[in-house]
Amino acid sequence: MVSAISDVMAGLVPAIHVWALGMKNVDARDKPEHDDSSRLAAYPMTEIIDATRSSPTVVPAPPLLAVRNIEVVYDDVILVLRGLSLDVPKGAIVALLGANGAGKSTTLKAISGLLKTEDGEVTRGEILFEGSAIAGIDPDKIVRRGIFQVMEGRRIVADMTSLENLRLGAFTRRDREVDADLDMVFNYFPRLKERTGLAGYLSGGEQQMLAIGRALMARPKMILMDEPSMGLSPLLVKEVFSIIQKINRDLGVTILLVEQNARAALSVASHGYIMEQGKVVLDGTADELRDNEDVKEFYLGGAGDQRKSFKNLKSFKRRKRWL
Ligand SMILES: Nc1ncnc2c1ncn2[C@@H]1O[C@H](COP(=O)(O)OP(=O)(O)O)[C@@H](O)[C@H]1O
Ligand SMILES: [Mg+2]
Repeated sequence: MVSAISDVMAGLVPAIHVWALGMKNVDARDKPEHDDSSRLAAYPMTEIIDATRSSPTVVPAPPLLAVRNIEVVYDDVILVLRGLSLDVPKGAIVALLGANGAGKSTTLKAISGLLKTEDGEVTRGEILFEGSAIAGIDPDKIVRRGIFQVMEGRRIVADMTSLENLRLGAFTRRDREVDADLDMVFNYFPRLKERTGLAGYLSGGEQQMLAIGRALMARPKMILMDEPSMGLSPLLVKEVFSIIQKINRDLGVTILLVEQNARAALSVASHGYIMEQGKVVLDGTADELRDNEDVKEFYLGGAGDQRKSFKNLKSFKRRKRWL
């Protein structure tokens, strides 16, 4: 147990390392985020700015997260994101899709601040969360603002139990509702309650569920999920995505969902962005993207679509209309 915690402190599990750093300070968020009544309320997506007019002017509410034209450089020289912009409205599930190496994980790390742990930097543009600029802020402070990243590859602590892993997620909290939230997580993932052994012995699907449950324990306003479908059977992908959708609906947690599995992601998202080589090449509602001929051809080609889409790169480049 002690060694597991020191592993965490040593940064072997970067996301947890961030929460551990957060233990030094009392959570600045004074209002409990998990007051059920407020969380269950629908989030208004628009606001009326002039109620005295006969036909009121309705303007879209500012997005919860706005990424504006960012560039990201690793090791001072490797330019990976080249002017990437996207919006995530409050309460939404937004999908960020693209092939391996497009820059999806880098985008999430730029938002969560974890870029710093990999010698990466946002060198241009801005990232606004609830209207405040957050690019370059330390990752523990970003967790405190309410953004939590579930990293690629299910970074749970293998030699701790599920319960211990879940408690790690609550490291930034000082309220008395941690036990109630454990019950809530076990409600979403009953299998985790049955598995009392070390998390390293959980199946891939159970580890993914644990990683998501651990994020919920931080009471985030927004979860950044990096490829939750990776390595899971189609049946489990369905199960995990339906839980993601349920969490979003029940708790109002906003989700930015990074996926190579476009079909699964678009089945739960309201809006999607497709990125290639460090920038967004197409975006639209989930329905628009599902109906788009290029997206169908290159991202939704059916089982094994990655093979079909990317094997013949020449034809891919010739046919794509967005480049
Ligand atoms: N820590 C890093 N240092 C240098 N280059 C990196 C680092 N992480 C990712 N890259 C590079 O950035 C590009 C995008 O990677 P990534 O964001 O992981 O893409 P994706 O998640 O879409 O597969 C790749 O070319 C990758 O090699
Ligand atoms: Mg990735």
